[in-house]
Amino acid sequence: MTQVAISGLGSYVPEKILTNFDLEKLVDTSNEWIIERTGILERRIASSLESSSSMGSLAAKDALETAKLVPEEIDLIITATCSPDGMFPSTANRIQALINAPNAVCFDINSACNGFLSSLMVGSTLIKSEHYKNALIIGSETLSRLIDWTDRNTCILFGDGAGAVVLEPTSEENYGLTDFLFGSDGNNADLLYATGPATGESDLQKEAKIIMDGQSVYRHAVSTMTSITKDLLIKTNTSISDIDLCIPHQANSRIINAVAKNLSLENDKVYTNVDQFGNTSAASIPIALTQAFYDKMLEKGNNLLFTAFGAGLNWGSVLLNWGTIKNPKEQ
Ligand code: UT7
Repeated sequence: MTQVAISGLGSYVPEKILTNFDLEKLVDTSNEWIIERTGILERRIASSLESSSSMGSLAAKDALETAKLVPEEIDLIITATCSPDGMFPSTANRIQALINAPNAVCFDINSACNGFLSSLMVGSTLIKSEHYKNALIIGSETLSRLIDWTDRNTCILFGDGAGAVVLEPTSEENYGLTDFLFGSDGNNADLLYATGPATGESDLQKEAKIIMDGQSVYRHAVSTMTSITKDLLIKTNTSISDIDLCIPHQANSRIINAVAKNLSLENDKVYTNVDQFGNTSAASIPIALTQAFYDKMLEKGNNLLFTAFGAGLNWGSVLLNWGTIKNPKEQ
């Protein structure tokens, strides 16, 4: 059976930083409250010239560079986003044009904050089935365009950015994606949703905003990420002590800590950067993975656990045995 591994990775975040102190000037909140309830210190905000495709293309270029592939070699581009450039065409098609990858088949996946993991599932399965020889998987979000900047329940949480990975078959036995499990619950879709499309210039954008029942979402996030991970560990006959590093969706440090506690996972095995970027939805895991890579936290043979939860409701966990990627900055 073909094994599929991550052979390249990259990320991009906009330059503009929005701190908790900046938010104090917009809504009735405080730096202390935000840190205590979310762990977030600051988040990045896209400029008016940036979009999910422009940020995604920059992350994609870095991912291709680490994979040592040229864009023409890419077979498939899947972009995970719930804040696309427009209703159509797909943001993946926009990225295809920006990076000049004419031979790729392109589409988006909208599974909100779970989108990057859903895209890993789809991309790896299509490679395993030998329909495609490689895939560029991009999580990219411009959530700032969907935020109601008068709603203190939501505007403190989200940020913009992009992360990307390249998937390829690996000849290294036992490396690559081990297995995954996902769940969905459309009956609870109204707990977290966005009105209006995130179309930069459209009049409809004025109506676009995120509506969330924070406490319910919090409870579902903790319980679903815990249970899906436990089920995946049982399915793959993996013990929690076999996990070297967990890279969870970065929504809220309290959610991350509660899931780690439920799984009996030590804190030093859980990667967090929510303090720097807030919740970047589908971009959060590939941004964190790229940061963990450049922080030299990933070693060959490491068992990585990704787990995510988002609007839909959708959630999932992926197990992956890390192979070899050379740091291009060290060559
Ligand atoms: O990727 C999935 C996407 N979403 C999430 O993961 C979000 C999940 N939910 C959460 O992270 C948390 O529910 C929040 C961070 C959104 C809120 O934290 P909480 O501890 O659940 O607060 P709460 O909603 O229970 O509100 C507690 C109090 C309320 O005041 P009263 O009624 O006790 O007087 C809120 O009005 O805090 C108030 N509050 C705020 N105060 C200052 C709510 N937002 C703020 C704020 N600043 N930004």
